[in-house]
Amino acid sequence: MSEKYYITTAIDYVNGNPHLGHAYEKVLTDVLARYHRRHGEQVFFLTGLDEHGIKVQQSAQKQGRDPQEFCDAMAANFENLYRKLNVSFDDFVRTTQPRHKIVVQRILQKLHDAGEIYKGVYQGFYSPRQEQFLTEKDRGADGKFPEIFGEVIELKEDVYYFKLAKHQEWLVEHLKKNPDWIFPNFRTKEVLGALENPIPDLCISRPKARLSWGIPLPFDGEQVTYVWFDALINYISVIGYDGAAVSDWWPGINVIGKDILVPAHAIYWPIMLKALNLPLPKMLLVHGWWTQNKEKMSKSTGNSVDPLDLINTYGVDAFRYFVMREMAIGYDADFSSEQFHLRYQSELGNTLGNLVNRAVSMVARYRDGVIPAISESALTASEQGLRNDVISAVKSFCENMDKIQVHIALMELWKGVIRVNQYADENAPWKLAKDPANADRLNVVLEELAAAIYLLAGEIGCVLPETADKILTQLGGLSPLAVSENPQWPQFSANTKVGKAEPLFPRIEITPAE
Ligand code: MSP
Repeated sequence: MSEKYYITTAIDYVNGNPHLGHAYEKVLTDVLARYHRRHGEQVFFLTGLDEHGIKVQQSAQKQGRDPQEFCDAMAANFENLYRKLNVSFDDFVRTTQPRHKIVVQRILQKLHDAGEIYKGVYQGFYSPRQEQFLTEKDRGADGKFPEIFGEVIELKEDVYYFKLAKHQEWLVEHLKKNPDWIFPNFRTKEVLGALENPIPDLCISRPKARLSWGIPLPFDGEQVTYVWFDALINYISVIGYDGAAVSDWWPGINVIGKDILVPAHAIYWPIMLKALNLPLPKMLLVHGWWTQNKEKMSKSTGNSVDPLDLINTYGVDAFRYFVMREMAIGYDADFSSEQFHLRYQSELGNTLGNLVNRAVSMVARYRDGVIPAISESALTASEQGLRNDVISAVKSFCENMDKIQVHIALMELWKGVIRVNQYADENAPWKLAKDPANADRLNVVLEELAAAIYLLAGEIGCVLPETADKILTQLGGLSPLAVSENPQWPQFSANTKVGKAEPLFPRIEITPAE
């Protein structure tokens, strides 16, 4: 039986449209899912949307719409974008779906029955204008709450608490014993820092009178579930939780941004699972932020980049390539449209696109479209060198993907593409074609070029699926090569006829927008 690989993204809030940061996370998870599928694992890839909570309720209200209708409309924007980006999810969860709500209620009931949830009082400052609880941090320099909050009142309400505090010691132990549970592992320190002081129990409900857009508590119809408690459960609701166990997809890998590590994913989530007697996720894979001018890209600050604009100009794979190549997982990256344009022109257009175009056109022009058959004895040191280097590039890609270093993996793969260009330049088939005496040598060079591209296309497909398909079509409708620990140089069957050479990344003559 092949191994099971379950991977999830964070589920996005639907109170605004998706931006480049959301799209990056889904593409990153997709690249890992495709890589593991290609390497023979059984993959289940879950993404989706977080639809409850005060923010969604308010956004719907502002537009005078029913919250569910509002969510349905927004959900279509997210799902369409992710489909367009070739994000190969196996399921798309929406927290308003009955299949999810049932599990949330099942879990609440179970924890309540087990004494892990108790009734208490929440007391704090509250701004009715902003419909928001305030803390000491919200006070201005003069000690008063700023004008935007309007009249601030002290509110006391009945709510339910989940016993978080009693598990604190266990969690600290877990983090100390498993420093690589969070990737990259430098973030473990951050979590341990947050756990230095005692953590309070978690308030997991809100009175229905104030917040109606949520899942009712099964044991108190006047209260709805706090949105984070509801949302985290998506990771196990969709794959199946019957009240005792989760389906054998669990545990999986949770891919998230750094802003939702503490406290949600590194404190609430493991403690919820512990209280349910379920295994913790295999790993929390935490990426950094896309910024613009060093500020976090977000819909509220208005500095977000719309992935659709980039896709419409440059194509889906250009977007996927850029975000994977530009960002080192775990660290922030500043978005620049000039850099996007540059990578498109040089790494995609000039390096990969031109290579494929040259190779396919020359087979068409010099050999009537048929990839020449060659014998091993015709190979020279130039071919041996090429083969070694391209195979090394493929291996290094895989080694880095296994270490979740996607940007390095891509850099290594591109070394292979650059090496094939170098081979073409050194052997100059366009010159060989001028003299029929070089016919055998030309056969070798054309065949080696096609074979090298064929080999690279397999791994390229994890990141650039559409481009890999186009390459295989242009090479004559080939199927992707199977993977192997020791990649072999590909062979073509007799009379493999190339397709039409079409530019993979056409030149785009625009001055990139600021
Ligand atoms: N709904 C919660 C997540 C619940 S998971 C059980 C949420 N939603 S969100 O829409 O605000 O963010 C969704 C994901 O997008 C998060 O992982 C977040 O870190 C990521 N990003 C949002 N803005 C981002 C950037 N500017 N850059 C990279 N990713 C960031 O949080």
